[in-house]
Amino acid sequence: MPTRWYNFLGDLPGPVPPIRDSGSPSAAEIAARVRPRALIEQNGATEQWVPMPGPVAERLRECGRPTPLHRARRLERHLGTGARIYLKREDVLPTGSFKLNTAIAQAYYAAEEGRTTLVTETGAGQWGMSVALAARMFGLRAEIFMVRCSLEQKPYRRHYMELLGARVRSSPSGETAIGRKILAENPGHPGSLGTAISDAFERALSNPSAAYLAGSGMPHVYLHQTLLGLEVAAQLKAHGEELGVAGRGDHLIACSGGGSNLCGLIGPHLRAKAEGADLRFLAAESTAAPRLTQGTYAYGRTDLGGFTPEVLGYTMGESFIPPPNHVGGLRNHHSSALVSLLRHEGVLDAVAFDQRTALEAGRLLLQTEGLLLAPEGSHAVAAALEVVAKSDAERLTPVIVILASGSGFLDLQGYHEVLLEA
Ligand SMILES: Cc1ncc(COP(=O)(O)O)c(C=O)c1O
Repeated sequence: MPTRWYNFLGDLPGPVPPIRDSGSPSAAEIAARVRPRALIEQNGATEQWVPMPGPVAERLRECGRPTPLHRARRLERHLGTGARIYLKREDVLPTGSFKLNTAIAQAYYAAEEGRTTLVTETGAGQWGMSVALAARMFGLRAEIFMVRCSLEQKPYRRHYMELLGARVRSSPSGETAIGRKILAENPGHPGSLGTAISDAFERALSNPSAAYLAGSGMPHVYLHQTLLGLEVAAQLKAHGEELGVAGRGDHLIACSGGGSNLCGLIGPHLRAKAEGADLRFLAAESTAAPRLTQGTYAYGRTDLGGFTPEVLGYTMGESFIPPPNHVGGLRNHHSSALVSLLRHEGVLDAVAFDQRTALEAGRLLLQTEGLLLAPEGSHAVAAALEVVAKSDAERLTPVIVILASGSGFLDLQGYHEVLLEA
Protein backbone atom coordinates (compact mmCIF):
# COMPACT_ATOMS: atom_id res chain seq x y z
CA MET A 1 0.00 0.00 0.00
CA PRO A 2 1.33 3.49 -0.81
CA THR A 3 2.39 5.38 2.32
CA ARG A 4 2.27 8.82 0.71
CA TRP A 5 -0.32 10.64 -1.32
CA TYR A 6 0.34 12.13 -4.76
CA ASN A 7 -0.34 15.86 -5.04
CA PHE A 8 -1.36 16.39 -8.66
CA LEU A 9 -2.13 20.12 -8.35
CA GLY A 10 1.12 20.76 -10.27
CA ASP A 11 -0.03 18.49 -13.11
CA LEU A 12 -3.26 20.36 -13.95
CA PRO A 13 -3.60 21.89 -17.42
CA GLY A 14 -3.64 25.40 -15.90
CA PRO A 15 -4.28 27.25 -12.63
CA VAL A 16 -7.52 26.47 -10.81
CA PRO A 17 -9.64 29.64 -11.34
CA PRO A 18 -9.75 31.89 -8.26
CA ILE A 19 -12.68 31.63 -5.89
CA ARG A 20 -15.06 34.53 -5.23
CA ASP A 21 -15.41 35.05 -1.52
CA SER A 22 -17.29 38.23 -0.70
CA GLY A 23 -19.55 37.02 2.14
CA SER A 24 -19.40 38.27 5.70
CA PRO A 25 -17.97 36.30 7.38
CA SER A 26 -16.06 35.14 4.34
CA ALA A 27 -15.98 31.48 3.32
CA ALA A 28 -12.27 31.47 4.18
CA GLU A 29 -13.06 32.69 7.73
CA ILE A 30 -15.78 30.06 8.06
CA ALA A 31 -13.41 27.34 6.81
CA ALA A 32 -10.71 28.44 9.26
CA ARG A 33 -13.16 27.83 12.12
CA VAL A 34 -14.57 24.49 11.07
CA ARG A 35 -11.94 22.70 8.99
CA PRO A 36 -8.88 21.08 10.60
CA ARG A 37 -5.80 23.18 9.81
CA ALA A 38 -3.85 20.32 8.25
CA LEU A 39 -6.62 19.87 5.69
CA ILE A 40 -6.70 23.57 4.77
CA GLU A 41 -2.93 23.38 4.26
CA GLN A 42 -3.28 20.29 2.07
CA ASN A 43 -5.67 22.24 -0.20
CA GLY A 44 -2.70 24.37 -1.24
CA ALA A 45 0.06 21.76 -0.95
CA THR A 46 3.04 22.43 -3.19
CA GLU A 47 5.16 19.31 -2.63
CA GLN A 48 4.56 16.46 -5.10
CA TRP A 49 4.31 13.76 -2.43
CA VAL A 50 2.55 14.20 0.91
CA PRO A 51 3.51 11.68 3.61
CA MET A 52 0.64 9.75 5.16
CA PRO A 53 0.65 9.81 8.99
CA GLY A 54 1.53 6.39 10.45
CA PRO A 55 -1.81 5.84 12.26
CA VAL A 56 -3.71 6.59 9.02
CA ALA A 57 -1.66 4.06 7.04
CA GLU A 58 -2.12 1.50 9.81
CA ARG A 59 -5.92 1.91 9.85
CA LEU A 60 -6.15 1.75 6.06
CA ARG A 61 -4.15 -1.49 6.02
CA GLU A 62 -6.38 -2.95 8.74
CA CYS A 63 -9.39 -2.08 6.56
CA GLY A 64 -8.03 -4.11 3.67
CA ARG A 65 -5.90 -1.76 1.57
CA PRO A 66 -4.63 -2.24 -1.02
CA THR A 67 -7.97 -3.30 -2.47
CA PRO A 68 -7.93 -5.83 -5.34
CA LEU A 69 -7.69 -4.95 -9.02
CA HIS A 70 -9.93 -7.57 -10.60
CA ARG A 71 -9.71 -8.59 -14.28
CA ALA A 72 -13.32 -8.96 -15.47
CA ARG A 73 -12.70 -11.90 -17.82
CA ARG A 74 -16.28 -13.19 -17.72
CA LEU A 75 -17.64 -9.78 -18.67
CA GLU A 76 -15.03 -9.59 -21.47
CA ARG A 77 -16.10 -13.02 -22.75
CA HIS A 78 -19.78 -12.10 -22.54
CA LEU A 79 -19.12 -8.96 -24.61
CA GLY A 80 -16.80 -10.80 -26.99
CA THR A 81 -14.35 -7.94 -26.77
CA GLY A 82 -10.60 -7.69 -27.20
CA ALA A 83 -10.51 -4.99 -24.51
CA ARG A 84 -9.02 -5.94 -21.16
CA ILE A 85 -11.35 -4.73 -18.42
CA TYR A 86 -10.23 -4.23 -14.84
CA LEU A 87 -12.27 -3.27 -11.79
CA LYS A 88 -10.72 -1.44 -8.86
CA ARG A 89 -12.65 -3.04 -6.00
CA GLU A 90 -13.44 -0.33 -3.43
CA ASP A 91 -16.65 -2.17 -2.61
CA VAL A 92 -14.65 -4.56 -0.41
CA LEU A 93 -13.84 -1.93 2.26
CA PRO A 94 -15.67 -2.35 5.59
CA THR A 95 -18.09 0.55 4.99
CA GLY A 96 -18.70 -0.64 1.43
CA SER A 97 -17.10 2.30 -0.40
CA PHE A 98 -13.95 4.24 -1.23
CA LYS A 99 -15.15 7.10 0.99
CA LEU A 100 -13.38 5.47 3.94
CA ASN A 101 -9.96 6.41 2.47
CA THR A 102 -10.41 10.11 3.21
CA ALA A 103 -12.72 9.70 6.23
CA ILE A 104 -9.91 7.99 8.15
CA ALA A 105 -7.38 10.67 7.19
CA GLN A 106 -9.72 13.57 8.02
CA ALA A 107 -10.85 12.07 11.33
CA TYR A 108 -7.20 11.59 12.29
CA TYR A 109 -6.33 15.24 11.61
CA ALA A 110 -9.43 16.45 13.47
CA ALA A 111 -8.55 14.33 16.51
CA GLU A 112 -4.91 15.50 16.42
CA GLU A 113 -6.17 19.08 16.60
CA GLY A 114 -8.28 18.31 19.67
CA ARG A 115 -11.69 18.41 17.98
CA THR A 116 -14.22 16.09 19.60
CA THR A 117 -17.10 15.99 17.07
CA LEU A 118 -17.19 15.41 13.34
CA VAL A 119 -20.06 17.04 11.43
CA THR A 120 -20.87 16.29 7.84
CA GLU A 121 -23.55 15.77 5.19
CA THR A 122 -24.20 12.62 3.22
CA GLY A 123 -26.14 11.93 0.04
CA ALA A 124 -26.64 8.22 -0.45
CA GLY A 125 -25.19 7.52 3.00
CA GLN A 126 -21.86 5.99 1.95
CA TRP A 127 -19.86 8.99 3.10
CA GLY A 128 -21.82 9.17 6.35
CA MET A 129 -21.10 5.50 7.07
CA SER A 130 -17.40 6.10 6.54
CA VAL A 131 -17.35 9.16 8.80
CA ALA A 132 -19.29 7.25 11.48
CA LEU A 133 -16.69 4.45 11.46
CA ALA A 134 -13.69 6.80 11.26
CA ALA A 135 -15.08 8.82 14.20
CA ARG A 136 -15.24 5.62 16.27
CA MET A 137 -11.68 4.71 15.33
CA PHE A 138 -10.36 7.97 16.76
CA GLY A 139 -12.75 8.28 19.73
CA LEU A 140 -14.86 11.13 18.26
CA ARG A 141 -18.60 11.86 18.04
CA ALA A 142 -20.29 12.10 14.65
CA GLU A 143 -23.30 14.21 13.55
CA ILE A 144 -24.54 13.48 10.07
CA PHE A 145 -27.14 15.29 7.92
CA MET A 146 -28.49 12.90 5.31
CA VAL A 147 -30.45 14.03 2.25
CA ARG A 148 -34.10 13.44 3.10
CA CYS A 149 -35.13 11.38 0.06
CA SER A 150 -32.05 9.13 0.40
CA LEU A 151 -32.73 8.68 4.11
CA GLU A 152 -36.22 7.48 3.23
CA GLN A 153 -34.94 5.19 0.43
CA LYS A 154 -31.95 3.74 2.30
CA PRO A 155 -32.81 3.40 5.99
CA TYR A 156 -30.18 0.67 6.48
CA ARG A 157 -27.34 3.13 6.01
CA ARG A 158 -28.86 5.16 8.85
CA HIS A 159 -29.04 2.05 11.04
CA TYR A 160 -25.34 1.35 10.37
CA MET A 161 -24.34 4.91 11.33
CA GLU A 162 -26.50 4.81 14.45
CA LEU A 163 -25.04 1.44 15.50
CA LEU A 164 -21.68 3.16 15.46
CA GLY A 165 -23.10 5.86 17.74
CA ALA A 166 -23.53 8.62 15.14
CA ARG A 167 -26.41 11.10 15.36
CA VAL A 168 -28.24 11.11 12.02
CA ARG A 169 -30.67 13.85 10.94
CA SER A 170 -32.64 14.36 7.78
CA SER A 171 -31.86 17.38 5.55
CA PRO A 172 -33.40 19.96 5.22
CA SER A 173 -33.29 19.83 9.01
CA GLY A 174 -35.65 21.44 11.48
CA GLU A 175 -32.62 21.87 13.78
CA THR A 176 -30.86 24.59 11.78
CA ALA A 177 -31.95 28.08 10.70
CA ILE A 178 -31.12 27.35 7.05
CA GLY A 179 -33.01 24.03 7.14
CA ARG A 180 -36.07 25.71 8.72
CA LYS A 181 -35.97 28.45 6.06
CA ILE A 182 -35.84 25.90 3.23
CA LEU A 183 -38.68 23.88 4.78
CA ALA A 184 -40.80 27.01 5.31
CA GLU A 185 -40.52 27.77 1.58
CA ASN A 186 -41.04 24.16 0.49
CA PRO A 187 -42.23 21.74 3.22
CA GLY A 188 -41.95 18.80 0.81
CA HIS A 189 -38.35 19.58 -0.19
CA PRO A 190 -36.70 16.19 -0.87
CA GLY A 191 -33.31 17.48 0.25
CA SER A 192 -30.17 17.72 -1.83
CA LEU A 193 -26.45 17.82 -1.26
CA GLY A 194 -26.82 21.61 -1.31
CA THR A 195 -29.26 21.59 1.63
CA ALA A 196 -27.24 18.99 3.56
CA ILE A 197 -23.91 20.82 3.20
CA SER A 198 -25.62 23.96 4.51
CA ASP A 199 -27.15 22.13 7.50
CA ALA A 200 -23.77 20.59 8.35
CA PHE A 201 -21.83 23.87 8.10
CA GLU A 202 -24.33 25.69 10.31
CA ARG A 203 -24.16 22.94 12.91
CA ALA A 204 -20.35 22.78 12.87
CA LEU A 205 -20.13 26.56 13.28
CA SER A 206 -22.32 26.37 16.38
CA ASN A 207 -19.87 24.07 18.22
CA PRO A 208 -16.25 25.26 18.65
CA SER A 209 -14.97 21.72 19.24
CA ALA A 210 -16.59 20.37 16.07
CA ALA A 211 -14.87 19.85 12.74
CA TYR A 212 -16.70 19.91 9.44
CA LEU A 213 -15.52 17.14 7.09
CA ALA A 214 -15.99 17.30 3.31
CA GLY A 215 -16.77 14.06 1.53
CA SER A 216 -15.71 15.33 -1.87
CA GLY A 217 -15.04 18.38 -4.03
CA MET A 218 -11.99 19.68 -2.14
CA PRO A 219 -8.31 19.23 -3.09
CA HIS A 220 -7.48 17.55 0.25
CA VAL A 221 -10.15 14.90 -0.41
CA TYR A 222 -8.79 14.30 -3.91
CA LEU A 223 -5.28 14.06 -2.43
CA HIS A 224 -6.31 11.30 -0.01
CA GLN A 225 -8.05 9.42 -2.80
CA THR A 226 -4.90 9.33 -4.97
CA LEU A 227 -4.30 6.00 -3.27
CA LEU A 228 -6.69 4.68 -5.92
CA GLY A 229 -4.64 5.73 -8.95
CA LEU A 230 -1.34 4.83 -7.28
CA GLU A 231 -2.51 1.32 -6.40
CA VAL A 232 -3.98 0.84 -9.88
CA ALA A 233 -0.63 1.80 -11.49
CA ALA A 234 1.29 -0.74 -9.39
CA GLN A 235 -1.36 -3.44 -9.82
CA LEU A 236 -1.55 -3.05 -13.60
CA LYS A 237 2.21 -3.51 -13.71
CA ALA A 238 1.84 -6.71 -11.69
CA HIS A 239 -0.70 -7.87 -14.31
CA GLY A 240 1.93 -7.21 -16.99
CA GLU A 241 0.02 -4.20 -18.37
CA GLU A 242 1.53 -0.95 -19.53
CA LEU A 243 -0.96 1.92 -19.47
CA GLY A 244 -1.16 4.48 -22.29
CA VAL A 245 0.34 2.51 -25.19
CA ALA A 246 -0.06 4.56 -28.38
CA GLY A 247 -3.01 3.79 -30.65
CA ARG A 248 -4.82 1.55 -28.17
CA GLY A 249 -7.22 4.01 -26.52
CA ASP A 250 -6.75 3.01 -22.87
CA HIS A 251 -9.39 4.41 -20.51
CA LEU A 252 -9.67 5.23 -16.81
CA ILE A 253 -13.37 5.51 -15.95
CA ALA A 254 -15.15 6.64 -12.80
CA CYS A 255 -18.52 8.07 -11.89
CA SER A 256 -18.52 11.71 -10.84
CA GLY A 257 -20.54 13.46 -8.17
CA GLY A 258 -18.14 15.70 -6.26
CA GLY A 259 -15.33 14.11 -8.28
CA SER A 260 -13.28 12.37 -5.60
CA ASN A 261 -13.18 8.78 -6.87
CA LEU A 262 -12.57 10.17 -10.36
CA CYS A 263 -9.73 12.50 -9.31
CA GLY A 264 -8.25 9.84 -7.04
CA LEU A 265 -8.08 7.47 -9.98
CA ILE A 266 -6.84 9.86 -12.68
CA GLY A 267 -4.81 12.37 -10.60
CA PRO A 268 -1.60 10.30 -10.52
CA HIS A 269 -1.90 9.73 -14.31
CA LEU A 270 -2.44 13.36 -15.43
CA ARG A 271 1.25 13.98 -16.00
CA ALA A 272 1.67 10.89 -18.22
CA LYS A 273 -1.24 12.06 -20.39
CA ALA A 274 0.13 15.60 -20.59
CA GLU A 275 3.44 14.09 -21.71
CA GLY A 276 1.75 12.23 -24.55
CA ALA A 277 0.51 8.87 -23.21
CA ASP A 278 -2.54 7.64 -25.15
CA LEU A 279 -4.84 7.70 -22.17
CA ARG A 280 -8.47 8.85 -21.92
CA PHE A 281 -10.19 9.91 -18.72
CA LEU A 282 -13.95 9.48 -18.64
CA ALA A 283 -16.45 10.77 -16.05
CA ALA A 284 -19.85 9.06 -15.84
CA GLU A 285 -22.56 11.27 -14.40
CA SER A 286 -26.29 10.96 -13.80
CA THR A 287 -28.88 12.54 -16.10
CA ALA A 288 -30.47 13.62 -12.79
CA ALA A 289 -27.70 16.25 -12.49
CA PRO A 290 -25.82 16.34 -15.82
CA ARG A 291 -23.46 19.22 -15.09
CA LEU A 292 -20.42 18.09 -17.08
CA THR A 293 -22.43 17.19 -20.17
CA GLN A 294 -25.22 19.80 -20.08
CA GLY A 295 -24.36 22.39 -17.43
CA THR A 296 -23.05 25.88 -17.97
CA TYR A 297 -19.53 26.96 -16.95
CA ALA A 298 -20.24 29.66 -14.39
CA TYR A 299 -19.54 30.82 -10.87
CA GLY A 300 -21.73 29.32 -8.18
CA ARG A 301 -21.79 27.67 -4.78
CA THR A 302 -22.06 24.01 -3.77
CA ASP A 303 -24.24 24.83 -0.75
CA LEU A 304 -27.41 26.89 -0.42
CA GLY A 305 -26.58 28.74 2.79
CA GLY A 306 -23.64 30.79 1.52
CA PHE A 307 -21.07 28.94 3.69
CA THR A 308 -18.85 28.02 0.75
CA PRO A 309 -17.21 30.42 -1.74
CA GLU A 310 -18.33 30.83 -5.32
CA VAL A 311 -16.21 28.67 -7.61
CA LEU A 312 -16.08 28.48 -11.39
CA GLY A 313 -17.55 25.14 -12.42
CA TYR A 314 -20.08 23.33 -14.55
CA THR A 315 -23.42 23.93 -12.90
CA MET A 316 -27.13 23.31 -13.12
CA GLY A 317 -27.71 26.51 -11.10
CA GLU A 318 -28.30 26.97 -7.38
CA SER A 319 -32.08 26.71 -7.64
CA PHE A 320 -31.86 23.29 -9.32
CA ILE A 321 -33.51 20.52 -7.25
CA PRO A 322 -32.34 17.14 -8.56
CA PRO A 323 -35.10 14.57 -9.06
CA PRO A 324 -35.09 12.07 -6.16
CA ASN A 325 -33.75 8.97 -7.93
CA HIS A 326 -31.64 6.16 -6.44
CA VAL A 327 -28.28 7.70 -7.29
CA GLY A 328 -27.74 9.85 -4.22
CA GLY A 329 -23.99 10.23 -4.67
CA LEU A 330 -24.22 11.88 -8.10
CA ARG A 331 -26.91 14.48 -7.50
CA ASN A 332 -24.67 17.54 -6.98
CA HIS A 333 -25.88 20.71 -8.71
CA HIS A 334 -22.37 22.24 -9.11
CA SER A 335 -19.11 20.56 -10.12
CA SER A 336 -15.87 21.36 -8.33
CA ALA A 337 -13.49 23.92 -9.83
CA LEU A 338 -10.85 21.27 -10.35
CA VAL A 339 -12.99 18.70 -12.17
CA SER A 340 -14.54 21.52 -14.22
CA LEU A 341 -11.10 22.78 -15.21
CA LEU A 342 -10.11 19.32 -16.45
CA ARG A 343 -13.33 19.15 -18.44
CA HIS A 344 -13.03 22.70 -19.77
CA GLU A 345 -9.45 22.10 -20.92
CA GLY A 346 -10.43 18.90 -22.72
CA VAL A 347 -8.44 16.58 -20.43
CA LEU A 348 -11.61 14.89 -19.20
CA ASP A 349 -14.46 13.43 -21.27
CA ALA A 350 -17.92 12.99 -19.76
CA VAL A 351 -21.06 11.03 -20.45
CA ALA A 352 -24.42 10.93 -18.61
CA PHE A 353 -26.75 7.97 -18.02
CA ASP A 354 -30.29 7.67 -16.73
CA GLN A 355 -30.60 5.39 -13.73
CA ARG A 356 -32.22 2.57 -15.67
CA THR A 357 -29.30 2.32 -18.12
CA ALA A 358 -26.80 2.49 -15.27
CA LEU A 359 -28.58 -0.13 -13.18
CA GLU A 360 -28.89 -2.41 -16.24
CA ALA A 361 -25.10 -2.19 -16.54
CA GLY A 362 -24.90 -3.03 -12.84
CA ARG A 363 -27.12 -6.06 -13.39
CA LEU A 364 -24.88 -7.27 -16.23
CA LEU A 365 -21.82 -6.98 -13.98
CA LEU A 366 -23.61 -8.99 -11.28
CA GLN A 367 -24.65 -11.66 -13.75
CA THR A 368 -21.17 -12.00 -15.29
CA GLU A 369 -18.72 -11.25 -12.47
CA GLY A 370 -20.94 -11.80 -9.43
CA LEU A 371 -20.29 -8.25 -8.20
CA LEU A 372 -23.08 -5.93 -7.12
CA LEU A 373 -22.05 -2.27 -7.28
CA ALA A 374 -23.67 0.80 -5.79
CA PRO A 375 -25.78 2.65 -8.40
CA GLU A 376 -23.11 5.37 -8.60
CA GLY A 377 -20.43 2.85 -9.58
CA SER A 378 -22.79 1.23 -12.08
CA HIS A 379 -22.66 4.50 -14.06
CA ALA A 380 -18.94 3.85 -14.61
CA VAL A 381 -19.79 0.33 -15.80
CA ALA A 382 -22.34 1.76 -18.26
CA ALA A 383 -19.68 4.14 -19.56
CA ALA A 384 -17.23 1.27 -19.97
CA LEU A 385 -19.78 -0.71 -21.99
CA GLU A 386 -20.02 2.21 -24.43
CA VAL A 387 -16.24 2.45 -24.69
CA VAL A 388 -16.01 -1.30 -25.35
CA ALA A 389 -18.60 -1.10 -28.15
CA LYS A 390 -16.78 1.81 -29.78
CA SER A 391 -13.33 0.19 -29.39
CA ASP A 392 -14.60 -3.08 -30.87
CA ALA A 393 -16.07 -1.20 -33.84
CA GLU A 394 -12.69 0.47 -34.40
CA ARG A 395 -10.80 -2.81 -33.80
CA LEU A 396 -8.96 -1.35 -30.80
CA THR A 397 -7.95 -3.46 -27.78
CA PRO A 398 -7.68 -0.98 -24.91
CA VAL A 399 -7.01 -1.51 -21.25
CA ILE A 400 -10.07 -0.19 -19.41
CA VAL A 401 -10.06 0.45 -15.67
CA ILE A 402 -13.44 0.94 -13.98
CA LEU A 403 -13.51 2.38 -10.49
CA ALA A 404 -15.93 0.15 -8.59
CA SER A 405 -16.63 2.86 -6.03
CA GLY A 406 -18.92 0.98 -3.70
CA SER A 407 -21.03 -2.04 -2.87
CA GLY A 408 -24.69 -2.20 -3.87
CA PHE A 409 -26.01 -4.50 -1.14
CA LEU A 410 -27.77 -1.62 0.61
CA ASP A 411 -29.14 -0.38 -2.72
CA LEU A 412 -31.12 -3.50 -3.59
CA GLN A 413 -34.39 -1.67 -3.04
CA GLY A 414 -33.40 0.73 -5.84
CA TYR A 415 -32.36 -2.09 -8.17
CA HIS A 416 -35.65 -3.82 -7.41
CA GLU A 417 -37.85 -0.77 -8.02
CA VAL A 418 -36.12 0.22 -11.26
CA LEU A 419 -35.40 -3.17 -12.88
CA LEU A 420 -37.86 -5.65 -11.42
CA GLU A 421 -41.00 -3.71 -10.49
CA ALA A 422 -41.22 -1.33 -13.45
C1 LIG B 1 -20.51 4.63 -3.90
C2 LIG B 1 -20.27 6.04 -4.35
N1 LIG B 1 -19.64 6.24 -5.52
C3 LIG B 1 -19.42 7.48 -5.97
C4 LIG B 1 -19.85 8.58 -5.28
C5 LIG B 1 -19.61 9.95 -5.88
O1 LIG B 1 -18.68 10.71 -5.17
P1 LIG B 1 -17.42 11.33 -5.85
O2 LIG B 1 -17.85 11.96 -7.12
O3 LIG B 1 -16.87 12.28 -4.88
O4 LIG B 1 -16.46 10.23 -6.13
C6 LIG B 1 -20.50 8.43 -4.07
C7 LIG B 1 -20.93 9.62 -3.30
O5 LIG B 1 -21.63 9.57 -2.37
C8 LIG B 1 -20.72 7.11 -3.59
O6 LIG B 1 -21.35 6.91 -2.44
